[in-house]
Amino acid sequence: MAKSFTVIGNWKMYKTARQATDYIEALLPLIDGTKVNVYLAVPYTSIHPAVQYAKETPVIIGAQNMNDSREGAFTGEIAGLMLKEAGAAFVLLGHSERRNVFKEDDAFIHKKLIRAFQDDIQPVLCIGETADHHGKGKTQEVLQDQLEGALKGVPKEEASKLIVAYEPVWAIGSGKTPTAAQIQEAHGFIRDLLCELFGKKIGEGIPILYGGSVKPENVFEIGDEKDVDGVLVGGASLDPKTFASIIQNISGGAPKKRAPRTKKEKKE
Ligand code: 13P
Repeated sequence: MAKSFTVIGNWKMYKTARQATDYIEALLPLIDGTKVNVYLAVPYTSIHPAVQYAKETPVIIGAQNMNDSREGAFTGEIAGLMLKEAGAAFVLLGHSERRNVFKEDDAFIHKKLIRAFQDDIQPVLCIGETADHHGKGKTQEVLQDQLEGALKGVPKEEASKLIVAYEPVWAIGSGKTPTAAQIQEAHGFIRDLLCELFGKKIGEGIPILYGGSVKPENVFEIGDEKDVDGVLVGGASLDPKTFASIIQNISGGAPKKRAPRTKKEKKE
């Protein structure tokens, strides 16, 4: 059966509300008829206008972060309910920039995740090792700690709504990417852990996306890996044409030097 792909653009702290709606206007004709699930994680001030613009289109709008409390005296923070009312359908949680720059830990990310489920916002849990951990061969250890830290205790029925994104910190914004085989190895490891935590049926249904220096040129190969269900794109999502090319290429829209598939893979 053909895979269903999800492509998420993470704009980080780029684009005003006006720029956001101009972008969506430019993107829509370029992705007309796509079967890819297209998500955009936009700055808070762009959520409401972007949702209005993207109504009845394949583009789904979400946020890049939220607080773990329902409401409260937390100056500068934003609650899930506020995002929901603005129209956000999903939220990125545990992005490495939140972990490293804003010192968010697994316990905090776990609480946010629980809140996102309560507020009916689909969480996209981001995990990934630093260059140092990668160099020391500790990738799997880090992935296991981050996954279990965020997901232990999450009920199975909630877990089925989750998306996981593997983003090696050293690949973000660096132009470096792991090889497709290394990506598959990490995703396979994550898949096994998800199956252990939530059972095979749910674990196998949770989309696992890859993020870190994704471009139109490398996405085809990455998307071909068995446990890659899509990509999370930073820099290359800021231009609608480049983002549209990524969406097109991951779903097989562009010519590429593809390694011949084995009979076993063809059957899958
Ligand atoms: P880049 O695509 O710019 O490497 O960023 C990846 C990322 O952090 C997406 O969340």
